[in-house]
Amino acid sequence: MIRANSHFEKLKSSYLFRKIADRVKAFQEQRPEVRLIRLGIGDVTQPLPEACLDAFHKAVEEMGHVSTFRGYGPAEGYEFLRQAIAENDYRAYGADIGPDEIFVSDGSKGDCGNFQELFARDIVVGIPDPVYPVYLDSNVMAGRTGSFVDSAYQGVVYLPCSPETGFVPRPPELPVDLVYLCSPNNPTGTILGRNDLTAWVDWAKENKALILFDAAYAAFVRKKGLPRSIFEIDGAREVAVEFRSFSKTAGFTGTRCAFTVVPKDCRVFDDAGNLQPLYPLWYRRQTTKFNGVSYPVQRAAEATYSPEGQRQIDTIIEGYLKNADEICKTMKALGYEVAGGKHSPYVWVDAGMDDWAFFDLLLEKAGVVFTPGSGFGSKGAGYVRISAFGSSNGVVEAMTRIQQHILLSKSILPGEQPQ
Ligand code: MLT
Repeated sequence: MIRANSHFEKLKSSYLFRKIADRVKAFQEQRPEVRLIRLGIGDVTQPLPEACLDAFHKAVEEMGHVSTFRGYGPAEGYEFLRQAIAENDYRAYGADIGPDEIFVSDGSKGDCGNFQELFARDIVVGIPDPVYPVYLDSNVMAGRTGSFVDSAYQGVVYLPCSPETGFVPRPPELPVDLVYLCSPNNPTGTILGRNDLTAWVDWAKENKALILFDAAYAAFVRKKGLPRSIFEIDGAREVAVEFRSFSKTAGFTGTRCAFTVVPKDCRVFDDAGNLQPLYPLWYRRQTTKFNGVSYPVQRAAEATYSPEGQRQIDTIIEGYLKNADEICKTMKALGYEVAGGKHSPYVWVDAGMDDWAFFDLLLEKAGVVFTPGSGFGSKGAGYVRISAFGSSNGVVEAMTRIQQHILLSKSILPGEQPQ
């Protein structure tokens, strides 16, 4: 008899962004005249930079000729892209990462979800709260947690990201083997500074633990001296793996290209208690289950590192950061407590009321879509995440609508319930 993986029964019924999409669709069917402004899911709105587009076209053309056609590429990605990544994203920042420690993939969501396959079922996992749902759900699916009781999965060590912690996770008191960190943080928009990251690396060394560091939003860190990568911290090569993506950096959410860095010094314990390198495990996993990213997409990704590609990306990122600033300013002026939005495309707002009620209210009264914070974890209750990935006109209009329709009517000031 074929039986289902019963761990799926522990999951909430649907993935957060699916649930929001369904709710918005139902609203739009009832009120087709409302022109919605979507600042919910962090999907980009600006097209691919021209440098990427040119490289993409050229590579597609190559695929049409016998002399330049390519079939299967290396599962870990073409050397030309891995070289460019090592040089521009790591060595340029003083991080000692080689091309042979980089695995190109079709997205960080998949890599973040799949990486847990390399670890024993009974390790203890530390998860920030609130958190990007993929880290937690993939561990639930793998049977690494108990049931969901009183807003928490049994067996998971939650790392609160609250006003008291500055909305970033701090090293836990309880024993943890594997921890997921995200900086700039999704959903709170906050960043881990050099001292914060050093504390995490020291903690991992002392506790024989591993850090899975999601740096999908690294390109939004603009200030010199603030770390973009955990590998800018001494000793991180031994205790960390990093996920990076071209999605939010260069508009690749639909094109799909990302990479994962597994340093050769990073080690884990085998069943006999001996240290083993982690790199061959991920190599084995990828070569078994993955056939690489298409050649034109990798050429387009490589073009992000050309001088013109870098200039075009800077313009796009600066535009999104300007949106984030506009959101922060408006919400603060309206009396809301706000975190994030500085080196990040996400703004985390204390709604002063139930977050799903706030979501419904803004959808109905202003036609604006945010993400309710409780979808990211129990500590997200009462907050909403606003994405700055909209067009600049869209963001300005959304903020104006909120002022006019909601707050100027004084129907909901922070702390009040809707009438
Ligand atoms: C988000 O809105 O959190 C992101 O778009 C999700 C993702 O990158 O998968």
